[in-house]
Amino acid sequence: MARVFLTRRLPGTALDRLAAEHEVEVWPERVPPGRDELLRRASEIEGLLSLLTDPIDAELIAAAPRLRAISNYAVGVDNVDLEAASARGIPVGNTPDVLTDSTADLAVALMMGIGRRLVEGDAYVRRGEWRTWEPELLLGRDLHGAAVGVVGFGRIGRAVARRLEGFDCEILHTSRRGGVSLEELLERSDFVTLHTPLTAETRGLIGAEALRRMKPTAYLVNTARGPVVHTDALVHALHAGEIAGAALDVTDPEPLPGDHPLLDAPNLLVLPHLGSATHATRERMADMAVNNLLAGLRGERMPHQANPEVAPTRPAR
Ligand code: DGY
Repeated sequence: MARVFLTRRLPGTALDRLAAEHEVEVWPERVPPGRDELLRRASEIEGLLSLLTDPIDAELIAAAPRLRAISNYAVGVDNVDLEAASARGIPVGNTPDVLTDSTADLAVALMMGIGRRLVEGDAYVRRGEWRTWEPELLLGRDLHGAAVGVVGFGRIGRAVARRLEGFDCEILHTSRRGGVSLEELLERSDFVTLHTPLTAETRGLIGAEALRRMKPTAYLVNTARGPVVHTDALVHALHAGEIAGAALDVTDPEPLPGDHPLLDAPNLLVLPHLGSATHATRERMADMAVNNLLAGLRGERMPHQANPEVAPTRPAR
């Protein structure tokens, strides 16, 4: 039996399987444990189930001498210092595949939401301003037939492209493995949708220059990670009309404070990081995260390991 700490409750019944084998403590609050809480537990724990809100950095890993398995409840692992974990031989699990379709669905929903002004329309009705059908009321832009630039052509980017074939879109993509250049994609697309992981290379990828390259009629959609977009540059671009609008499921900072200047920008639709937020997907993620942790603690290879170079090690008896 290993001591395991989970930084939040997870949906579904996967935690029961973990608790059947290990001594599990679940952080009971809605907001993540603070740094001190994490560090306080670090010295004792052998397994950690973390969320994208928990910075699992080198200091924390160093403070956890008994830690042998980290399972991140996300496909992205930018909150975990993979190098520090690998240097200690700690496998880090993540949850790819199961959230691809839900996230791709949401990216398309955001394109429609911002292009067809869904939130504005809803607010207009609720304000009691709907007097009659008007030929020029809340006109938007079509997604069907549009040129859509997919930045990052991994699982989620490709799933978005597949959906958009049904909308007769022209798909442009750019990735490390090919496609068109980012510059060409930005210049030609009516919608630019981001699907890159957050790495040193992609941090700030969409900054002032990239935004200036986009058409003034184009929309930016981000369901990847907030820091892929330079927030101040986006605020400026929206106010200056350099782009037509932005629909963000992720922001930098995250959470976005209610008084953040981004929220005063025109033509912005923003959600609280809901890409994978369906009952079925979040339960599948919980299953996968628990399977990863159970395997790691048994000294078996995790079914989904973000640092595959770390070989399984049997725990000392
Ligand atoms: C992830 O998994 O990385 C998403 O951002 C949340 O599901």
